[in-house]
Amino acid sequence: MDRLVEVALAARLHAHAPFSHFLVGAALEDSEGRVHTGCNVENATYGLTLCAERVAVFKAVSEGARQFRRVAVAADTDTLTPPCGACRQILWEFCGDVELVLVNLHGKTETFRLKDLFPRPFDASFL
Ligand code: THU
Repeated sequence: MDRLVEVALAARLHAHAPFSHFLVGAALEDSEGRVHTGCNVENATYGLTLCAERVAVFKAVSEGARQFRRVAVAADTDTLTPPCGACRQILWEFCGDVELVLVNLHGKTETFRLKDLFPRPFDASFL
């Protein structure tokens, strides 16, 4: 199996999801080949919950990474779980039209370009 996908599946096991019990993992490969991980971290106020994808992006950026090649997102669903709208915006701003691999616990995968999931984005080019 693709290493980035394996890393996303492993990151999922760190999810803190006592409210939804929906565990998500993300892995981000940067332009130097380094891999950054994230999992969803929920909060009792619900609204402060962070998705796995945003945790991975913010961890990576905080470690100095600025360019990314691929993203993998892992969840336990038959219909593969895509990033939520907020995460698509953040992924677009930091990763651009990145390759995005979705995977479930059976090893089923689907690969997209972010542009296809997030057409006509708003970003800093408008400012
Ligand atoms: N979640 C993610 O981490 N990523 C997604 O792509 C979809 C949703 C999390 C947020 C929340 O902790 C749980 O899944 C249920 O929405």
